[in-house]
Amino acid sequence: MAYKNYPNVTILDHPLLKHKITKLRDKTTKTNEFKMLVKEISILEGYEALRHLETHLVEIETPIEKSMQPLVNRKSLCFVPILRAGLGMEDGLLELVPGCTCGHIGLYRDEVTKEPVEYYCKLPADISEKDVYLIDPMLATGGSAIDAVKMLKKHGAKKISFICIIAAPEGIEAFCKANPDIPLIVGALDRCLNENAYICPGLGDCGDRTFGTTNGTTEDRHII
Ligand code: PRP
Ligand code: URA
Repeated sequence: MAYKNYPNVTILDHPLLKHKITKLRDKTTKTNEFKMLVKEISILEGYEALRHLETHLVEIETPIEKSMQPLVNRKSLCFVPILRAGLGMEDGLLELVPGCTCGHIGLYRDEVTKEPVEYYCKLPADISEKDVYLIDPMLATGGSAIDAVKMLKKHGAKKISFICIIAAPEGIEAFCKANPDIPLIVGALDRCLNENAYICPGLGDCGDRTFGTTNGTTEDRHII
């Protein structure tokens, strides 16, 4: 599904994806299931987002005959999660393309200003030759994703796409204004941001729910 007059934006609308995102939003969903859902959702989104991957032909032999058949150019790909919450999506995408190169960008939103703060960046040296998929479950104000794209470009990345699970209209607008040419794949489009720049209805704080750090404590302490 397209979004307004932004040709770079795709809002996915598969019923299975919707089902899993509903479960993810539910505040009674605990850490274990939350992580599993993020992984499954990333596989579903990745299947769509990676549909333009390059392939090359290799000769194989079926039980019937020799044949030239396509394989994905795994080495031309790179996944870059934004820490922390993006790590949950990395797990899912690596199920689709095992052994794919991954870079990592560490950003957190300052609780007061809501501006992203950089704390980590490790990217492959040959990133300029790779098809880079930036991943983060939440696109709220768009500040983190916009900053992460700047960091990728500074390191030479030329071909970038961004995959998120839930986006606010404000985040999509900001991201597209800064990066009109970067494909943006969204699992669900939400209503708006609240006064604390959280997505409504959203799912709360994705990093905390992924790693069980809500209110500074760990959930599921009794589950090993
Ligand atoms: C969340 C989320 C994004 C960012 C989105 O991370 O994973 O990176 O907020 O918000 P924005 O669009 O307004 O920038 P957070 O800063 O909570 O860090 P965490 O993943 O380490 O918890
Ligand atoms: N980050 C989150 O984890 N959730 C939001 O709703 C907004 C930013």
